Amino acid sequence: MDRVIPLDQPHTSRIYDYFLGGKDNYEADRKAAQEILKAWPDIRTAARVNRQFMQRSTRFLAEAGIRQFLDIGTGIPTEPNLHQIAQRAAPDARVVYVDNDPVVLAHARALMPGGTSGTTTYIQGDVTDPLAILAAPELGEVLDLSEPVALSMIALLHFVEASIPAIVSAFLSALAPGSFLVICTITADFAPEQVVAAQDVYRVRKLPAQVRTRDEVTGWFSGLELVEPGVVPPHRWGLAETTEISASFDAKVSCYCGVGRKP
Ligand SMILES: C[S@@+](CC[C@H](N)C(=O)[O-])C[C@H]1O[C@@H](n2cnc3c(N)ncnc32)[C@H](O)[C@@H]1O
Repeated sequence: MDRVIPLDQPHTSRIYDYFLGGKDNYEADRKAAQEILKAWPDIRTAARVNRQFMQRSTRFLAEAGIRQFLDIGTGIPTEPNLHQIAQRAAPDARVVYVDNDPVVLAHARALMPGGTSGTTTYIQGDVTDPLAILAAPELGEVLDLSEPVALSMIALLHFVEASIPAIVSAFLSALAPGSFLVICTITADFAPEQVVAAQDVYRVRKLPAQVRTRDEVTGWFSGLELVEPGVVPPHRWGLAETTEISASFDAKVSCYCGVGRKP
């Protein structure tokens, strides 16, 4: 489907691409990003730590035997991408990417060819409409929903103001036992002033933004078996317990993540 993309308006995907040092962003994205950086100077660190969590959690899931991945809010390709991590560990892994930004779709098609016996496909969709995503023919061609799927929503849900429990429950009820939910999202628990100021920059530009508390994020895993160490900042997930991390780093990153298994 061809559609006109308003590149004079910033988009969360391209602002994030700018934070990660990518080249797939435009003047409006860079201006918004500069405003966000003024409010939250460490947001680039947060973006990098979030990507590292994506890598560790994907590797963990592939090593746990998961062969199907549904990644919503994929973002503009940034190496290594989720399908590369998954297919490196399990070459037959099948990955469906979903994003609501048509620019992401264009880049993903160009930059994400398969390369292994696994399959990678991409659909344009909005996480606030789970039934449309689940009913997409491309999803049905790649994923077998009678087998476990890892559903990841990494650095996505802080761009959704709608009720997250309803969204999570709509997806999980369609997934088989043994499926996983992976989430990473922004919180104002550690550094309220800077994070709320950054949230305001998004909202002023009509980009939805909503920070969440640890209790809220924990509630999204209700009914699931939380993988240790539970809901924690992403640099505290999947690392040796002896790794020393300062409280000030929690404030720099200002995110919570978690991985839960559907019993
Ligand atoms: C910050 S990026 C995260 C990219 C990747 N998941 C990561 O963690 O590095 C957020 C992505 O979510 C997408 N997004 C924002 N709102 C969305 C929505 N309602 N439905 C689907 N995707 C959305 C944006 O286009 C963007 O690509």
